[in-house]
Amino acid sequence: MALQIDRWFSLVVKPLVFVACLLPLAWLLWLTWQGQLGVNPVETLSHRTGDWSLRFLLLTLAVTPLRRLSGWNRLQRFRRMLGLFAFFYVGLHFAVYLVFDQFFDWQAIVADVAKRPYITVGFTAFLLLIPLAVTSTNGMMKRLGRNWQRLHRLVYLIAVLGVLHYAWLVKADLREPLLYGGLLSVLLGYRLWWWRGRGHSATVIRSTR
Ligand code: HEM
Repeated sequence: MALQIDRWFSLVVKPLVFVACLLPLAWLLWLTWQGQLGVNPVETLSHRTGDWSLRFLLLTLAVTPLRRLSGWNRLQRFRRMLGLFAFFYVGLHFAVYLVFDQFFDWQAIVADVAKRPYITVGFTAFLLLIPLAVTSTNGMMKRLGRNWQRLHRLVYLIAVLGVLHYAWLVKADLREPLLYGGLLSVLLGYRLWWWRGRGHSATVIRSTR
């Protein structure tokens, strides 16, 4: 029975989730094709890809708490896919900036990264995501052992930098960055609570031995 559910999961659910993750891109391509990106198409592309980068980062971080709370361990299988989609959308976000904003002018990009703090923060988050994407395979997981987990804890910092990047660039209305910040605080707060709880249990077990 469990084997059948596993097969159904791999053959149906995972591909469906994969396709769903591509829908934001499909929607953006459709709007571009229809010429419906508004008065500033580059800005719209930059904003939408930025939004989806952050959403996928938060979705990735939501997997473990949801798995623990629901007891549904199969959820864990989506974590890598969601994380790689976060990287994919950040890559697109950066590509929009590189191609349409800076026209491949690497010197201007270096100057921009140095001058505008929100670009510095976004760029740092992007660079930090690269080693996580590269080491996301099963082979790398095995090869790095415990260090894999240590390295992948960088995702917490990356998400914080992503929210900071957003909060820094908005001029007046902070509602959306605050909403993302609130969600991130819940996800990180849950982990703190979990780790402290487990640490506490381990101490109690050790002291009663
Ligand atoms: C993890 C990395 C990143 C995340 C999560 C992220 C997220 C976001 C978000 C949420 C927005 C605002 C979208 C909106 O207004 O609806 C945004 C805008 C923007 N981001 Fe990023 N970003 C990241 C990395 C980068 C990088 C590497 C660059 C370029 C070097 C960059 C450049 C920009 C620019 C130029 C804007 C638009 C600013 C404006 O129109 O005022 N971002 N980003």
